[in-house]
Amino acid sequence: MTATYIEDIGNHVDAEVTVRCWLHNKRSSGKLRFLIVRDGTGYLQAVVFKKAVSEATFAAAGELTHESSLTVTGTVRADERAPGGYEMSVTAIEPLQIIPPEDAFPITPKGHGVEFLMDKRHLWLRSTRQRAILKIRHEVVRAAREFLDEDGFTLCDTPILTPAACEGTTTLFPVDYFEDEAFLTQSGQLYSEATAMALGKVYNFGPTFRAEKSKTRRHLTEFWMVEPEVAYATVEDMMDLSERFVTHIVGRVLERRLDELKTLERDPAPLETVAPPFPRIAYDEALDLLRKKGSDIEWGGDFGGGDETLLSQAFDRPVIVHRYPSAIKAFYMEPDPDRPEVALCLDVLAPEGYGEIIGGGQRTASYALLARRLEEHGLDREVFDWYLDLRKFGSVPHGGFGMGIERVVAWVAGLDHVRETIPFPRMLYRLRP
Ligand code: 4AD
Ligand code: MG
Repeated sequence: MTATYIEDIGNHVDAEVTVRCWLHNKRSSGKLRFLIVRDGTGYLQAVVFKKAVSEATFAAAGELTHESSLTVTGTVRADERAPGGYEMSVTAIEPLQIIPPEDAFPITPKGHGVEFLMDKRHLWLRSTRQRAILKIRHEVVRAAREFLDEDGFTLCDTPILTPAACEGTTTLFPVDYFEDEAFLTQSGQLYSEATAMALGKVYNFGPTFRAEKSKTRRHLTEFWMVEPEVAYATVEDMMDLSERFVTHIVGRVLERRLDELKTLERDPAPLETVAPPFPRIAYDEALDLLRKKGSDIEWGGDFGGGDETLLSQAFDRPVIVHRYPSAIKAFYMEPDPDRPEVALCLDVLAPEGYGEIIGGGQRTASYALLARRLEEHGLDREVFDWYLDLRKFGSVPHGGFGMGIERVVAWVAGLDHVRETIPFPRMLYRLRP
């Protein structure tokens, strides 16, 4: 008997197939046993009729407990009332491992606290909800890569072990590196600036690390970032790119993951309005808007999570905030030539209160200015000598941005915390499982 995945079951109507699966749920009524099984690709109702199977098979159907593993063989029938549109009339069941009732699967349909579920994350992943989230995550990643690949970008991987800070020295994870000290990367950007000078349009995509002591619904200590970087590009070019990029990603999720959005009870309507042009407001305008909404933020202050929420609730699509004060941004930001106290940078804030999903901008092109900035930020010039070289040998205006995958998934899937957007989240108080 050839094994079939549940997602392909529609190709086998009236044929006998085997599905290799786990028991999701079951109920009995007299001579009938209804098993809902799952195999990762879908759910299937397998109906065991006492008279149609051996005694052993009927007994096995009774013994199976939640998450026990089994193969089930039977004839596929189209049935509009069945979840997924198909049902199986069982001819045989082979249990692989039956979980004894006294040692039951720890996660039951009744409610559990988040900490408990996080401790059992390796098992929690099997739930319908977690599966839907991971499917959406995959779609976001796939769409991001697809967009960049088709737009002429070359993937250039950047190192995870690095000798220096990219995004400030306060959130570095140190690692012993033989006789030396290294850090887990906060961003591949600096290296992508080098590859952009070699290949024009590049991106890096990988895990990034921040020793963030903040315990918020938006912060992980390990998260995945996709970072395009473009030679001969301005901050305006990066605004255009971020807009097209985000629109493509959201569009793909709507196209391919509507079922999963439905599982999560995520209303797709607010995602359908995501299309260019995104509103673009300077930091100064954002400040006015925040003050009108009751914030007491002063010029020069960075937006807190609450400010970002207020801002992103003001628009029906992502909003681009540009030209923040240089003092609150990283050392590599290019100052605005017309107003050197602000940087040619951009953040994209997702709507519905989700806040920052993208950060980036134009990079300092001048050797002298970059050298000065490094000094002002107390960064060791020797460690950045290679980075300064990029300004010594054919410097050009260039820019890029980084998009946090987990932030995007939280927004698109409508989740209230990033912890469910990655299979095994790493947070301030969470390193297990
Ligand atoms: O704004 P950030 O810090 O920008 C950079 O790292 C730049 N070097 C990127 C670049 O220009 N190439 O981070 C970029 C994005 C944020 O907008 C957010 O989506 C995500 O990375 N991010 C986090 N996601 C989860 N947990 C955290 N602690 C995050 N910190 C940043
Ligand atoms: Mg940022």
